[in-house]
Parts: sequence; structure tokens; C-alpha cells
Amino acid sequence: MTHTHDHVDWGEHGPDLIADAEINAPMVDQALHWLTERIPHAALVLDVGSGPGVAACRFAQLLPGATVLATDGSAPLVALARSRAERLGLADRVAVREIKLPDGLADLPTADLIWVSGVAHHLPDPAEGIRALAELLRPGGLLALREGGLPLHFLPSHADGGLTARINAVDSALSQSRTHPMGAIEPPRAWPDLLADAGLRSVRSRSFLLDLPAPLSEAARQQLARTLRRTRQMLDGHLTGADADRLEQLTDPGDPESVLRRADVFMLRAATIHTAVR
Ligand SMILES: C[S@@+](CC[C@H](N)C(=O)[O-])C[C@H]1O[C@@H](n2cnc3c(N)ncnc32)[C@H](O)[C@@H]1O
Repeated sequence: MTHTHDHVDWGEHGPDLIADAEINAPMVDQALHWLTERIPHAALVLDVGSGPGVAACRFAQLLPGATVLATDGSAPLVALARSRAERLGLADRVAVREIKLPDGLADLPTADLIWVSGVAHHLPDPAEGIRALAELLRPGGLLALREGGLPLHFLPSHADGGLTARINAVDSALSQSRTHPMGAIEPPRAWPDLLADAGLRSVRSRSFLLDLPAPLSEAARQQLARTLRRTRQMLDGHLTGADADRLEQLTDPGDPESVLRRADVFMLRAATIHTAVR
């Protein structure tokens, strides 16, 4: 079965996407600074697949002269983005619209900066999606895809015992076979190649690090535990029994081995941003 956006209920993931964005802010903020410094006079920023609007609001703060249009295919996430913009006093410069990809792209205005974070690998045809996004760029405008990087490491290797590598291998195999429960797919070519194929120039990739050493804050521990529970649920039936049990143990608040209690847990990962100019 081929999974697409229609099979995934993104609306359920709102609180998780917000908590995730808050924990990853030290990493993503570096990327957003890098982008906004490259295009400081942007008048319109599009955040396509914005989820609950964390980055969209951040763009509005970093670019006081810009208007930001956040779009997402999930109505509950669009509502969260709208209330976030209102709460932060940004509603006059952050507009929010429910748009399903790829068809909805045709209704969007052209923009100076287009941010597409963790979304392109959910499109049924990423190459076609990137071509359509490239069409929305104004001359000199910047398209930025956040895709890939380095997966999260959180345990010292004696305690990890290869668990993270096995989880990542399962995740990648499901994307490769287009049977991933979240509809993730491997694109047919590298992201920079897809940007060049879309007729864009100055293709570049840069990676940003999230480095939260031990001891982790309570908020980071809680989010890590939520991520591991979600992984266990999502990959149910694909992990070995021993790995599933280990994830159970790592997220059990009553277990001294859990990420909620052990002293040596940390968070280390990288996000890669692929950019190109029209
Ligand atoms: C992994 S989340 C990323 C959210 C946000 N951009 C971020 O970086 O935190 C993927 C987002 O893409 C949206 N999405 C996925 N497929 C979509 C589609 N076909 N049309 C519109 N939105 C879609 C989901 O609703 C979700 O908000």
C-alpha cells in the first residue's frame, strides 16, 4: 500500500510538533538566522507545511518588514498556527491558510523565501513538488528545504547497544519501500539534485547541530520520552521484540533505566537545510 498525506492524521500531532520545535529551537534558529540574513529584505515568506506555525512566527520576528504566509493541509494544525501568531502579537503579519499539497500550490502567491521543513519527503512525488515550489519563487528568491541530517543520538554507546542504528535502518527501509506509517518516502535523487533539476541555481546544503549534553532538562527528557513512545508505536511489528521491550523500558517513568531518570542521557542530532535561488 502506498501511504500519502491522506492516510496520516497530522492533526493528532499538534502538541508533539510544538514540543519538538521548542526542544529543537537552538538548532532550527541557527538555520532561520542563516536564511533571513541571506534575504533580509524579503517582503513575503511562505512556510509550506508549517504545522503549528512555530517557524512561521519565528520568521516574522526575524524579518520585521516581512509578511509570512503559513500553509498546512491539516485544519487542527492551521488553527494552532493561527492562535500562536495571535498569542505572540504577530497576527497582523502572519497569515494562515489550509492548503493541501501538491494541488493547493497553484493558489499560493509568489514569495521571496519559501521554507519547507520536514514536508517534501511526505509528498507523493517530491521532484514534481519541488518544481512547483520553484515556480512560486520571485526572481532572486530562496527556496529552503529541511531534509535529512543526522539522526538523534541520546544514549552513550554502552547503553545504546546498536538500538538507534536498528531503529534508523527500519525507518529507512519503510521509507524506501513506501510503506512508512507516516507516509515518508525516499526521493529518487538527492535533494540538491532535485533543486537543480527544477531550474534553480546556487544550490547549497548546510547542517546545524542540536547539542544538548547531559544532564538534560526535564522538558527535554519528557520530549525525548514522547519521541521514543511514538517511535515504538509507529514501528510496531517492524522492530524485534527485544528492541520494542527496550523502548518500553526507556520510556517507563518507574524504571531507573528510563530516559526520564538516568543521568547520562543527552540529545545530539543535525538538521540539513538545502537551499537554491531562482
Ligand atoms: C513533520 S511535520 C513538519 C511541520 C513543520 N514544518 C516543522 O518543521 O515542524 C509535516 C507537516 O507537513 C504537513 N503535510 C504533509 N503532507 C502534506 C500535504 N500533502 N499537504 C499539506 N500539508 C502536508 C503536515 O500536516 C505536517 O504539518
